[in-house]
Amino acid sequence: MKRTIQKHALVAALWSLAFTVLPVHAADDAAQLQQGKVLFGQGAVPACALCHALKDAGAEGAVGPSLDELKPDAKRVATALRNGIGQMPSYNGKLSDAQIAALAAYVAKASGGSK
Ligand code: HEC
Repeated sequence: MKRTIQKHALVAALWSLAFTVLPVHAADDAAQLQQGKVLFGQGAVPACALCHALKDAGAEGAVGPSLDELKPDAKRVATALRNGIGQMPSYNGKLSDAQIAALAAYVAKASGGSK
């Protein structure tokens, strides 16, 4: 019996935590997208913009596919960054997990792939 009560208390605590954290989340998303945009234009080495077109970032690279046309979702971007693909180098070890997540979220959103 005592166990169940503790479990309920824990669940309640987690819920209240989730609701306290939620409003902050929107600001985090904006910060993450901004970080992704900066990485796209110049932060990543070599910069994505050298090879890819993406209007939102003012990028007109033509070595790789236009991301505006490809509209990759975040998972597809992250996979390309981790493993590399064709002529595109892998960014594994060059970008942190957080940076890869930021780029993936930004490219998906800016290209329309997240819709
Ligand atoms: C040296 C040029 C180059 C750079 C720099 C580069 N890419 Fe690419 N990228 C390519 C090429 C070429 C392809 C197409 C590969 C293929 O399909 O054979 C590609 C493909 C992709 C794809 C599509 C993957 C798929 O599943 O079809 C995404 C998404 C992508 N790049 C995102 C990025 C991002 C984000 C960056 C910056 C961190 C970046 N690229 C940097 C050349 C580049």
